[in-house]
Amino acid sequence: MLQKPGRLQITDEELNAFTTAVKTRFGLDFTRYEQKSLKRGLVRLISKKDLESMLGLWAQMLRDKSLIISYIDELLVNLTEFFRNYDLWQKIKEDVLKQVGYQNELTIWHAGCSTGEEIYTMGIVLKERFLLHKSRILATDLSTKALAQAKAGRYNNIIWDKCAKSYALYNPEGNVDRYFSKQEQSFEVIKQLKKHVRFERHNLVQDEMGERFKIIFCRNVMLYFDRVLKMKVLKLFYDALADDGFFIIGYYDMLPYKSKEMFTLHCSKTRIYRKNLNYK
Ligand SMILES: C[S@@+](CC[C@H](N)C(=O)[O-])C[C@H]1O[C@@H](n2cnc3c(N)ncnc32)[C@H](O)[C@@H]1O
Repeated sequence: MLQKPGRLQITDEELNAFTTAVKTRFGLDFTRYEQKSLKRGLVRLISKKDLESMLGLWAQMLRDKSLIISYIDELLVNLTEFFRNYDLWQKIKEDVLKQVGYQNELTIWHAGCSTGEEIYTMGIVLKERFLLHKSRILATDLSTKALAQAKAGRYNNIIWDKCAKSYALYNPEGNVDRYFSKQEQSFEVIKQLKKHVRFERHNLVQDEMGERFKIIFCRNVMLYFDRVLKMKVLKLFYDALADDGFFIIGYYDMLPYKSKEMFTLHCSKTRIYRKNLNYK
């Protein structure tokens, strides 16, 4: 019988046992994710798979080890939008890109890119600033499902009106139709916007980053991490950010107090930071 999500409760012990077991068996570390959102994700997953409890879920995962990838995809929160927080994109266009855009190459990392809306929003901003041709963009996420959609750049028509409205807020004079081709039930990002993007599965918790970037986006990802994990991931971003680079987080992302030694605020409204070169 399908378990009603409202009824199932996951205890702290169950959650800890689950994350520890996933780490030991599958090498994926969720032990420092924010507990409430992980619990919500597990309840969703258990009810979707028509199971009764955490025990049932774990038994299934042990029976068929290939399930882990799709189950992890289900646990992660993939919410994203085109031109989310339109004032950020105006600020990037009018300020950030003026400061880094003159260089020969513009390297950008979208960490936790989800299904791609953030990447293509930035692609449109770059194109409107005539910088797309020299941009080298890396888009990473832990979710293979989200990455596959990001790479395809195809979206259901249900979100078209929202996309067009948010674009109009960012650029009332622009024409959003130029950037997409329309099909009956979906719309797809034009090839020119996809051409400069490399997609890779990358786990911010465990993987290294051997490249450096002028702009790093990590918006609405660290929300799901605890303070210790945030500090670890922030150090990864610090090392990957060029000395004159910009680091951009989400409007609701909270940075631990100690991270202020690594990054200095560039614009509080749009959550843009710069690297603090005095940090050791
Ligand atoms: C809410 S979405 C944010 C999407 C986009 N950055 C935005 O703000 O519109 C969070 C994304 O972070 C990804 N994520 C969660 N944990 C991650 C990790 N350890 N490494 C990489 N990506 C992760 C999720 O798969 C999800 O796609």
